[in-house]
Amino acid sequence: MCGIVGYIGRRNSLPILVDGLKRLEYRGYDSAGIAFQNGKGIEIYKTKGKIKDLQKILPHPTPDAMVGLGHTRWATHGIPSSRNAHPHSAGGIAVVHNGIIENYRNLRSHLIAEGHKFSSDTDTEVIPQMISGYLRKKLPMKDAIKETIAHLRGTFAIGIMNEAHPKTLFSIRKGSPLVIGIGDGEFFFASDVSALLPYTRKFIFMEDGQICTIGEEGIELRYLDSQETTPAEEQAVEIDWTPSMAEKEGYNHFMLKEIHEQPRAMMDTIREWTEDPVRILDEFGLTVRRTIGLNKLQVVACGTSYHAALVGKYMIEDIARIPVDVEIASEFRYKSPIIEHDSLFISITQSGETADTLAAQREAKKRGARTLTICNVVGSTSSREADSVLYTRTGPEIGVASTKAFTAQIGALCLLSIALGIRTGRLTPGEAGTLRSQLLKIPAFMEKTLKMNSGIEELARTLIYSKTFLYLGRGINYPIALEGALKLKEISYIPATGYPAGEMKHGPIALIEEGLPVVVVAPVDNLFEKTLSNIEEVKARGGRVIAITDEPASLQDKVDDLIVVPSAHSSLSPLVNVIPLQLLAYYIGMLRGCDVDQPRNLAKSVTVE
Ligand code: AGP
Repeated sequence: MCGIVGYIGRRNSLPILVDGLKRLEYRGYDSAGIAFQNGKGIEIYKTKGKIKDLQKILPHPTPDAMVGLGHTRWATHGIPSSRNAHPHSAGGIAVVHNGIIENYRNLRSHLIAEGHKFSSDTDTEVIPQMISGYLRKKLPMKDAIKETIAHLRGTFAIGIMNEAHPKTLFSIRKGSPLVIGIGDGEFFFASDVSALLPYTRKFIFMEDGQICTIGEEGIELRYLDSQETTPAEEQAVEIDWTPSMAEKEGYNHFMLKEIHEQPRAMMDTIREWTEDPVRILDEFGLTVRRTIGLNKLQVVACGTSYHAALVGKYMIEDIARIPVDVEIASEFRYKSPIIEHDSLFISITQSGETADTLAAQREAKKRGARTLTICNVVGSTSSREADSVLYTRTGPEIGVASTKAFTAQIGALCLLSIALGIRTGRLTPGEAGTLRSQLLKIPAFMEKTLKMNSGIEELARTLIYSKTFLYLGRGINYPIALEGALKLKEISYIPATGYPAGEMKHGPIALIEEGLPVVVVAPVDNLFEKTLSNIEEVKARGGRVIAITDEPASLQDKVDDLIVVPSAHSSLSPLVNVIPLQLLAYYIGMLRGCDVDQPRNLAKSVTVE
């Protein structure tokens, strides 16, 4: 997820672009750049680092530049660096891009074969290269853009400048957000309204497939596959958000926004691999022989990522029948771990900077393991030091409580499980196809879960004075009980404990007393009857049972509160079951007046022991 911004009008563009990028920095902050028309051509300034680093290299005094575009990056392809920072340019074309060009490798190869010289490792650079190539073939600019877009697969919001058209800006939207700001004799584009609220309240929210040409004669808005223009005024709306509200896109907190971003984050994470998950192993150098020879996987992580690792254990052992050891990184690093040479070591880390996880990864590498990291930050320490990386693609996770990264990590682990299952022959092509299609349904199931659970806030309101909570789950949903408990305690500061439901008689049942809230993850799967017995044990002792299930009829009148989710494949049910638990923790914390985005004593990335 990156931030793009553009300006054309009667004022100097640079201060406006810099200010806009600062308001978009929450969307990505590993590198930044600005391009502007200087009357003789296009000047570009870009650097690794934040907007403040970009400001240090911009020309002073700011030249008169009425047309420009800017970008603040969240790296997806190509590490954070000046050469990979946007804008990218070729042949007098400058481009800023937010999104992922999935087929960039093929496009890049063809362009290089045609003599194009690339100057970055990014997917984005294929865009100016292709446009300039079509212009050299004498296509008009709009046709050159149209032909280029027709070849791109993936998601994008693009801003384009052409030094041959110094008083024009082009913007295209397909799958990533893009708004047009309408000022008094000046126009803007940006990834979201937060960048532009100080300048205008009037916006056009571009639709997918639309191209907007902004020139001296104003705005021309049309669909790329049509010659008909859409009257801009018809699509314009007035927004009365504050800039801060806009960064959260109307949500009160980043955590709630990120809970609702999970369907998109999941799709962005799985889409490039779902067609052929085995490519993950090829990229990781795991040949058939080596995979069949694998007698164990070692997985380490901390906190929520550790819970994702536990879900992954159930998935990989069930699907690929390979034993998986999962350990807390801070325990692993100090126990003189037994690492078999050539074994496969996986670290899971959203930030890629967690001290204990990095230390464990280094320890494993030192002892001869091949290391794979499942990570959300391109260019992070973990991603640079591991032998291979499987990226989650959620965009920056701002809320300290990890939500979208957690479910994306599980999506990545599911892809890995399928790949291992195929390569070891333990998954038939039909079974693999079923799992892949079930995984592709998950973003829609997550969307449906979010829509089905608008009543969670009311439920939370009845729980905010509870003294403690118990969370129970079985099998692959036991880690979801742990995660639900962690979410609640780190956001609302209420003590909460997650247990395997089958452990009740081994201690936790002593906790049950009148009204004690017990959250039970109870999908109707092969363990449901056992879980139902645990529910009855709790009810018999006066506990208050809050159950998450996909078949409400099975629990009607047996529990106090019923939260319904869609029925998902048994290996994927954690991905829908966790969402109500995230929402419950959020609303209880918010209703208790806690700082849900930055809870006390916590940091987003624990870079020290
Ligand atoms: C989860 O909500 C917490 N913020 C914390 O447990 C976190 O998951 C843990 O610190 C690991 O962080 P990482 O994924 O960046 O390594």
